[in-house]
Parts: sequence; structure tokens; C-alpha cells
Amino acid sequence: MLSSNNNNNNNNTITARTSTNIEKKRQEGEEETMNLIRTTDTTTTTTTTNNVFDRELVSNTFCMTRKSLLILVLGTMIGYFIVPNLLVEKELGFNNLMSTGTTTNNNRLSGAKYTRTSTNNKNKKKRRILVTGGAGFVGSHLVDKLMSEGHDVIALDNFYTGSENNIAHWLSHPNFRLIVHDVTEPIQLEVDEIYHLACPASPPHYQYNPIKTIKTSTMGTMNMLGLAKRVGARILFSSTSEIYGDPLIHPQPESYWGNVNPIGPRACYDEGKRVAETMMYAYAQKENVDVRVARIFNTFGPRMHPNDGRVVSNFIIQALQNKNITIYGDGTQSRSFQYVSDLINGLTMLMDQTTYTQPVNLGNPDEYTIQNFAQYIQRLVPKSKSDIVYYPKSQDDPSQRQPDITTAFTQLGWKPIVEVEQGLKETIAYFRNVLNTQGEIIPTGPGASKPHQA
Ligand SMILES: NC(=O)c1ccc[n+]([C@@H]2O[C@H](COP(=O)([O-])OP(=O)(O)OC[C@H]3O[C@@H](n4cnc5c(N)ncnc54)[C@H](O)[C@@H]3O)[C@@H](O)[C@H]2O)c1
Repeated sequence: MLSSNNNNNNNNTITARTSTNIEKKRQEGEEETMNLIRTTDTTTTTTTTNNVFDRELVSNTFCMTRKSLLILVLGTMIGYFIVPNLLVEKELGFNNLMSTGTTTNNNRLSGAKYTRTSTNNKNKKKRRILVTGGAGFVGSHLVDKLMSEGHDVIALDNFYTGSENNIAHWLSHPNFRLIVHDVTEPIQLEVDEIYHLACPASPPHYQYNPIKTIKTSTMGTMNMLGLAKRVGARILFSSTSEIYGDPLIHPQPESYWGNVNPIGPRACYDEGKRVAETMMYAYAQKENVDVRVARIFNTFGPRMHPNDGRVVSNFIIQALQNKNITIYGDGTQSRSFQYVSDLINGLTMLMDQTTYTQPVNLGNPDEYTIQNFAQYIQRLVPKSKSDIVYYPKSQDDPSQRQPDITTAFTQLGWKPIVEVEQGLKETIAYFRNVLNTQGEIIPTGPGASKPHQA
């Protein structure tokens, strides 16, 4: 009781003191206000003291509210848009090609329209977008584009080959969520669109655990299709030129059914992707799921896994470290290479177009023999002392690869716009930086190997 009384007394005292302070402040405020009014506007001195005080209070509050609102808006803009984009530019250091999408020579010739990887995409409605494999090479660039367009983006990844570094610049952004999850397990989310990219893409990494690779393509795609069906989301699947196998038709149009060895070391990936495509169209037919299928050809650029054993990353890393450039086979096999920003534009254009649902090749028809490509990289790293050396060809390595991109051009108005040389220069600069920070990198050979932490 006593203590309660004491408390009450104390409380009262505090209340009384507070009232006195308020009253004092009010009086001081009145005095200041009156002085101000007297010196600035004699007509207002006719107003009663209380009214003046209240009016000033309201006006000050209003000013404060306007100021606060302004600061809030500016702060929000700086926090949400400017800083992340500056961070992206600073972190990427390769934003020239990523942000332009406007290398115009080709555009002028063709008259085609290309999407810009711009921060101002006012015509697009904000959507909730899931990117599986969002911490990987392609996925993280796609996340960059979708985030800079103002969408709510969920990146889902199990970090098998992906890295949190690739998306670190978005982690604190309110429109971004990272979910560490394996697509072979079902997941319930509310989204409008799904870019389903989760799957290791480099031969050594997908061959390391072929059963897991098959599960990722089959069970993973089934789970994502189930999700798309439940929430009515459009789903885009990242298929591959590998579904054409060692092609007997050159260049490869989408109508070509391919030449795949179903039991070879690459089959876990190639056949996994083929059956995933089959699932996409089965769900489209039977369950009315709105599907898109991109058949992606060799893509390169910053954030490629340094140990992925692919031609571009291996050759560049070898040349930068004066190690021998290793070719598996006689070097006459051909490949076509597209820069990652072109692919990202192609993926979003395919997702956004409303009518065409058949598979679409996305690649750069600029074709090189592997030997010419190695020499090309030697030239672009001028001080390199690397020699080119040859090892036996790896099993089922395709002898030629070149996309026929007529469909992409006629249906989407898309074609690659970044010159391979330009893209290589950006990628060389990126890997030079990686080597400076990480130290020596021993490139992976063609055999199965577990991904090192990127
Ligand atoms: N890069 C290319 O040249 C190329 C060519 C053809 C097709 N593709 C396809 O594009 C997609 C992305 O390729 P990438 O080059 O960015 O490869 P990547 O290995 O860099 O990215 C794949 C991402 O998926 C994640 N992942 C793998 N298995 C998963 C699982 N079970 N659950 C959740 N996440 C998983 C990885 O951790 C990684 O972040 C892949 O589907 C690939 O098949 C890429």
C-alpha cells in the first residue's frame, strides 16, 4: 500500500512537473512568437495571444510535417534506389554493359527494339517474382534487373554453386527476400511470376552428383509447376542448348529434336532438361499453366563461378595467371558465346510477351572454334605468357553449337547486342579483381568435381 501510495505520489509529481514545464514552454513560446510577429507583421499583433500561439503551433507543426515528409521521401529514395544502385555499380564495376542494353549499331541496322536494363521502368506493374537459383551467375543478374525495375523479388537458392556475395547488395532492401531452400522440396509462396533457373550449369558441377542433378531438373521443376498452378503464376524455365546434344543440324533451330546420348556423363543434365521441358508443356496442356521456355546457349560474364570449368572462365583465369590454356580435344569444336546482359534482356522479354509459349533459343550466333577462342583471349590479355596445350577430348563433348535465333527475333524483337570482345573485356576485368582478392585459382578440368565455395 505504502509503496503504491508513494508511486502514485511520484507519478503525480511527475505529471505536475510536466504540466508546469509545458506551461512554461508555452509561455516562452508565446513570448517568442509574439516578438517574432511584432517585428515582422504588425497587423497580426491584433490577434489574441492564444490564437497566435495555436496558429504558430499548427503552422510549425505543418512545416515540420512537410519537412519530415520531404526528408522521409528523400531518405526513402536514397535508401531504396540510389544507394543500392550505387552499390551495385560499385560492386559490379561492369555496369557499362549491364545497364545499357543499347549498343546501337545492331539496333540501327535491324530497327529492332530492345529492353533497357534501366532503373526507370514506369510502364511495368509491380509484381512479386520468384527467381529460383537467384544466387547463381545468371540468377543474380536477373535479380538485379527485376529489383531495379521495382518489383518484389524472392531469390531461392540452396547455394550448391551460387553465392551470397552475388546478391549481397540487395539483402537489406525491403523489396528483396532470400530463401535458402532446395527446389527438390515443395514450397508454398504467393507470387505472380516464377523464373525457374535452379540447376548447376557447368559440366564438372552437374556431373559431381548426377542423381541430384536429375532430381533438381525433374522434382524441382515439378514443384515449381505445382506452385505456378496453385497461385496462377506465369513460369519461365531455363532450358539449354544441351537438349540438342551433339547436333546434326547447324545452326540449331527450336524445331530440331536433338542428338543426345541418354546414358553418357552429360545425360543427367541434358535429359533432365529435356524431361523438364516435357513437364512444362504437360502442365500447360492439362492444367492451363502459363509457361515460357528459354533454351539458353553458352553465356558468360562477371559472377561466373571461378571453378566452373567452363571455357570462358578457365581460359581467362589461366591467361591472367600465366598458366597454360587447356583445350580438351583438337580445338576444332565450335561454340557461340553470349554476354549475360543480352541473356537477361531475352529472359525478361520472353516472360513479358503474352502470346508465344513455345521454346525460344537465346544465344549469340557469333561462333568460334575453341582454338580460335583461346587465341582470342590470349590477345585480350596482352602480357600473358600462357601457351595453349591440348588434352584428350571429353566424352560426348558437342562438336558444334550455334543458335538459330530467328524465333527470338520475330517473336520477341530480341537479338544480342553486346559484342563478344566487349563482354570479354568486362569479364577479364572481373576475374582480375577476383584473383587480386582471392589469390591463386586452379581451374577445374572437365571431370566431375564438387564446387568450391565461390
Ligand atoms: N550459363 C550458361 O551458359 C547456361 C547455358 C544454358 C542453360 N543455363 C541454365 O541457366 C540456369 C542458371 O545457370 P547459371 O549459369 O547461372 O548456373 P549457376 O550454377 O551459376 O546457378 C545455378 C543456381 O542454382 C542453385 N541451385 C542448384 N541446384 C539447386 C537446388 N536443387 N535447389 C535450389 N537451388 C539450386 C545454385 O546454387 C546456383 O545458385 C541453369 O538452369 C542452367 O541450366 C545456363
